[in-house]
Amino acid sequence: MDSNTRNNTLTPMSKIHVSIRPIEKSDFETLCEIDQACFPPGVAYSTWEMRWFLTRRGAFGFLAEVGDKENLPPGGSPIAGFIVAWKVQGKAGHIITLDILERYRRLHIGSNLMKKVEEEFRKAEIRVALLEVSVNNTAAQEFYKGFGYKVNERLKNYYPTGEDALEMARWFEE
Ligand SMILES: CC(C)(COP(=O)(O)OP(=O)(O)OC[C@H]1O[C@@H](n2cnc3c(N)ncnc32)[C@H](O)[C@@H]1OP(=O)(O)O)[C@@H](O)C(=O)NCCC(=O)NCCS
Repeated sequence: MDSNTRNNTLTPMSKIHVSIRPIEKSDFETLCEIDQACFPPGVAYSTWEMRWFLTRRGAFGFLAEVGDKENLPPGGSPIAGFIVAWKVQGKAGHIITLDILERYRRLHIGSNLMKKVEEEFRKAEIRVALLEVSVNNTAAQEFYKGFGYKVNERLKNYYPTGEDALEMARWFEE
């Protein structure tokens, strides 16, 4: 995984202090719990899948920690959400997952994480970023549209639940 220096951001809506840092191995277990809280069974990644995504060559990710220590999510972790991506130098980038715990949504934490990943894509001279999102997940589709992602195609039976996905793509200018 890439190692970057910690980046502090003040979210505009809440004034909760949020810091963003690269994901570390010791975070894996908490990230799996967050993924299971964010997605229904069958769509959420298993611990094994999450470990595989996070350790393969070209994988990287960031997480957001909240500073309001009196108001931590269940389990006491300050992690409010995370993003995992994958890059092939000079070719395509892939957003693997983006998860924000429900209580921290609409605070632009997801947007801050997306920006960090897209910065890495640009540094790696990636021209196109791809992702898959459930046809029923209109909130995430709206979120990605805001970042300039457009629907490429519908992927039939993409999820183990039988749900279809939309493949969305964003081209970066040279
Ligand atoms: C989708 C998700 C990552 C968005 O994260 P977030 O931190 O709440 O998003 P942001 O606050 O940065 O939102 C940025 C913009 O995206 C759009 N957006 C975000 N959530 C939205 C929703 N529920 N409905 C409509 N538009 C939405 C809005 O335009 C929003 O800007 P605004 O709040 O100023 O209007 C979050 O809802 C989530 O984790 N959902 C569950 C997991 C998931 O679906 N992940 C992505 C699937 S691959």
